[in-house]
Amino acid sequence: MNPFTHNSPAAAPKAPSVLCRSLATLIRVLPLVAISLLLALGSAGCSKKSDDVIKVGEFASLTGKEATFGTSSHEGTLLAIEELNATGGVLGKKIELITEDNLSKAGESGTVVTKLIDRDGVVAILGEVASSRSLEAAPICQRSQIPMISPSSTNPKVTETGDYIFRVCFIDPFQGTVMANFASKTLKAKKVAVFTDVKSDYSKGLAKYFKEGFTEAGGEISAELDFNGGDKDFKAQLTAIKTAAPDAVFVPGYYTDVALICIQAKQLGLNVPLFGGDGWESDDLIKIGKEAVEGNYFSTHYHPEVSSPKSKQFVEAYKKRFKNQDGSPKAPDAMAALGYDSAIILAEAMKRAGTTEGAKVRDALAAMKDFEGATGKTNINEKRDATKPAVILQVKGGVFKYVETISP
Ligand code: PHE
Repeated sequence: MNPFTHNSPAAAPKAPSVLCRSLATLIRVLPLVAISLLLALGSAGCSKKSDDVIKVGEFASLTGKEATFGTSSHEGTLLAIEELNATGGVLGKKIELITEDNLSKAGESGTVVTKLIDRDGVVAILGEVASSRSLEAAPICQRSQIPMISPSSTNPKVTETGDYIFRVCFIDPFQGTVMANFASKTLKAKKVAVFTDVKSDYSKGLAKYFKEGFTEAGGEISAELDFNGGDKDFKAQLTAIKTAAPDAVFVPGYYTDVALICIQAKQLGLNVPLFGGDGWESDDLIKIGKEAVEGNYFSTHYHPEVSSPKSKQFVEAYKKRFKNQDGSPKAPDAMAALGYDSAIILAEAMKRAGTTEGAKVRDALAAMKDFEGATGKTNINEKRDATKPAVILQVKGGVFKYVETISP
């Protein structure tokens, strides 16, 4: 409605009272007009601004029980975005990374990813490390037709959610087999106990694939026990494990629980090797577990010692950008390297698609082959997973020592 119609020259001559009323109306509506104008200008300004950048969402466990996972992954992702923006961005625009913390808590990832998509209008989602949290977000991204790339979730169900969901790491059927062969060939174990976190999709999956692989290799599973991630006392289960007298114990858990499990195993005199998967990888494993984790093994995605030129470049840039608490250069771990790769692969897919439109970016991601990144070459297969080698590390002298690389 035009508030000035009253004063239109076509209007009939007005009596003074009519004129007064018109004036009063004008005074009443003026502030409204001014506000509307300001709002219109403001939103034009905003939409112009958001047209100028490409918004990418990230969700990560920046605090809470798996804080080192989210922090590392975020730092790798951030480094990639900063490098991309320093060289002109993507499709002539800068990338704006919007990061949300899920506090390492179940139930939070769905909320923050919905916010990133609905409120912030991101065109893609990067995350998460932990499979259970990626599994919370994946159906939301799939429904919204927003491509999601998990840097390091290894449970097969993550990408099975749908054709918009990708990952840049290997999956647990492979990781489980690698550790099954390692147990039988390198540890020469005949009997292995398996200790599973039943709250974690990652742990349950990796335990299953390990058991299949180990029995296939001729081994025996001598005990199967459960825990709940976040438990503090594992002694009852460890006592049962000790009674079964295994040659080694497979613990597909995350570092905070694993460190306590290693300490309590030692206290109970369970003096056989404990070993696990990528969930062990954190400096906090050593900080918490100290000598109780010494000598143990785990598989993961990457180690800075195994490096291609692109990987070396990444390690240098990361060390320059991020510092440890004591101020020394921080060496990247697997999550940092995979976080970096998830971001550069997304950017590359947008470049190849020539747009940020979901379906086209999805197609470009699905076609990604031999892309050089921090973790070596990424090949996206028909299941939207990456086919990549695994590395085995050992805790030795308070650091992670490279043992071997196992190719798929
Ligand atoms: N692969 C683990 C999961 O799916 C997460 C993880 C990745 C942990 C890399 C450490 C290093 O839950």
